[in-house]
Parts: sequence; C-alpha cells; structure tokens
Amino acid sequence: MDIRAINTLLTTRRIGKPVEWQPSLDSTNIVARARAQNGAPEGLVIGADVQTAGRGRFNRSWESSAGDNLLFSVLLRPPFPIRQYALLNFLASLSVAEAIEQYPSLHATLHWPNDVYINSKKVCGILSETGVESASIIIGIGLNVNQNEFSPELAHASSLARECGHSLDRGRLLHILLKMLDENYDAVISNGFAGIMEKWRMRCDMIGRQLSVQSGDAVIEGEAVSVADNGALCIRQNTGETVSVYAGEATLHGQQLFSEIRA
Ligand code: BTN
Repeated sequence: MDIRAINTLLTTRRIGKPVEWQPSLDSTNIVARARAQNGAPEGLVIGADVQTAGRGRFNRSWESSAGDNLLFSVLLRPPFPIRQYALLNFLASLSVAEAIEQYPSLHATLHWPNDVYINSKKVCGILSETGVESASIIIGIGLNVNQNEFSPELAHASSLARECGHSLDRGRLLHILLKMLDENYDAVISNGFAGIMEKWRMRCDMIGRQLSVQSGDAVIEGEAVSVADNGALCIRQNTGETVSVYAGEATLHGQQLFSEIRA
C-alpha cells in the first residue's frame, strides 16, 4: 500500500494527519494508545498489515490474514463530553458502510452497536477504547478487504472481495474511508450526533427483528424497536415492556453472529 501517496493526497481536516503504517504490530490500538499518552495529535492513524495480538470486543482476539485487510486505529481528542464518546462507534461503522458503498456492487448493513455486514456476513468490527485520563479515544477498525479464507469457527465472517467477487485496492479504500470518517466527525463537531444517528438507523437491518442481547450478566430478549439518538437499543420484551440497552452484544434470532462464535 502506498502510504506516502495517501499522506500526500489526503485532503481531510483532522483524520489521517498523519497516517503511519507498519508491516507488523502487536495491536494498532495498543500502539495508538501509547502514542496518545505521549501527546500525539488528534487524527493520527496507526495501521498495520498484520497484528500479532489483534484485539476484538469482549476480550476476544481479532484474526486477520497478513496483508489482506485494513487494520488501523484512529486517535481522537473530541471536543465534547466523554459520555458521548460511545456514539463515535456509530460514526465509525456508518463511515465504513459509506466507504464500502463507493463500490456499486456492495451494500453494507449495520448491526448495533458497531458491526458492518454484507449479505448477513460480518466484514468489519470496531473496538474503541477511551483514555479517560487524557480525554482521548482510540477507534480501532478491522475491515476484511481481500481475505479469502476464514477458519470454520468464523463461518459468519466474510470480506469485501468475497462478497463482490474481486479483490480491491486497499490504499484506495483506506483513502475513501478516512475521508468518510473525517466528514462525519466534522459534521458531529458542527451539528452534534443526531444526523449521524439518523443515517445509521437507515442502514440498520435489526429493527423489527427478534434478538437477544447479552448485557453484563443479563440477557434481554425481544423485538428490536429502535436505536435512540443516545445510542441505546430499545427492545420490546415479550412481556410488552420496552427496555433500553446501552452496551452489549446482540444476536439476531435465526442468525448466529460472527462475534459470538469467535471466543
Ligand atoms: C470486534 O470484536 O468486532 C472488534 C474488532 C476490532 C479489530 C480492530 S483491528 C485494528 C484495531 N486493533 C486491534 O487490536 N483491534 C482493532
């Protein structure tokens, strides 16, 4: 990937200033966090062709074949309260979906809180980690681009290449994705999250479907009714009561989610 070209041609306001890419890192989130603690500026992007200790949500690992995918972390120092940082997960997953759809044969859907799917297969996961001490957040994005083989326990994972039938230029896709992230972040700073959440809901294919959400020790079952502007998933339980869930892992009934089977 020609990172020098991306650094030269990228016309973003904040994100990707600069983009640093290494052949191998333990985890781009770990490296970006260390850089944040050393005072690195907002917008720094740390990427790698392969990770030796890639991290997923819920302390899982994140596997990715070397040189095939986009594995990177963005450092942000948002000018809004820390309680709103979780909404950046929606911004990031929306940006990934919008970048993917620059390729006409691909249509991405979003699953609460921040997974990106194509044809009911997970192609992207996002792990954001807040550094409360320095009011910063690291948004780690793992987007399966050209990976062709997935281990049997990742049966519900796929890549863009598998879904559209040909490989994609990772550099071009990274460029597009950084621009989407930048535009959406800029919009949030100017106008708040409502517009982002509205666009996110339009791409979410969970609404009206039966699901279970593991949230802490609790499992909540029912019909997904909406995703609120504050990021909560509203679920109508079979008792008729509607509850709001702020964090957790959702499993659509009749479809075992990719992230469930990787533990
Ligand atoms: C998930 O479990 O769905 C989230 C996966 C996030 C993986 C990305 S890859 C780049 C960044 N570095 C990491 O160690 N994890 C994130």
